[in-house]
Amino acid sequence: MKTIVFLGAILSVAFAATLPANEQQAINKVHKNCQSNPSTYVDESKLKDLATYGQEPQVGVHMLCMSKGSGIQNQSGQLDKGVIKSKVLLVIKDQGKANEITKKCADSKGTPEETAVAVYLCLNQNNVPFRPELA
Ligand SMILES: *[C@@H]1O[C@H](CO)[C@@H](O)[C@H](O)[C@H]1NC(C)=O
Repeated sequence: MKTIVFLGAILSVAFAATLPANEQQAINKVHKNCQSNPSTYVDESKLKDLATYGQEPQVGVHMLCMSKGSGIQNQSGQLDKGVIKSKVLLVIKDQGKANEITKKCADSKGTPEETAVAVYLCLNQNNVPFRPELA
């Protein structure tokens, strides 16, 4: 029994989805740009726990900067479903499943900032690791 649990743990690490290297670099760069501007800077420890800190205004400002920089939201803060689906398809190869996740995650909230936080949380919770590498 213990052996099975152990093997399961190894397999889930082996199969944890990762972004293609160029996409990972692109999102790291967007993050760096947002961090280099004092008006969109946020304490990185808060990004590591978005579920807890996502409501804080400055976290939302940073996430909206990231979202715009990645093309997920446009300058007026509206979601681009096509871009979201393209990010999902980077790691979810099944079209039906990708459509389902896109539909679930492309959900506008009360403000563009809240929308940005919600989309990122949703993608990350659905095995799409669309996030920068944090130190
Ligand atoms: C943002 O996207 C919405 C919906 O697609 C569109 O109506 C709006 O004109 C776009 N705004 C900008 C600034 O591109």
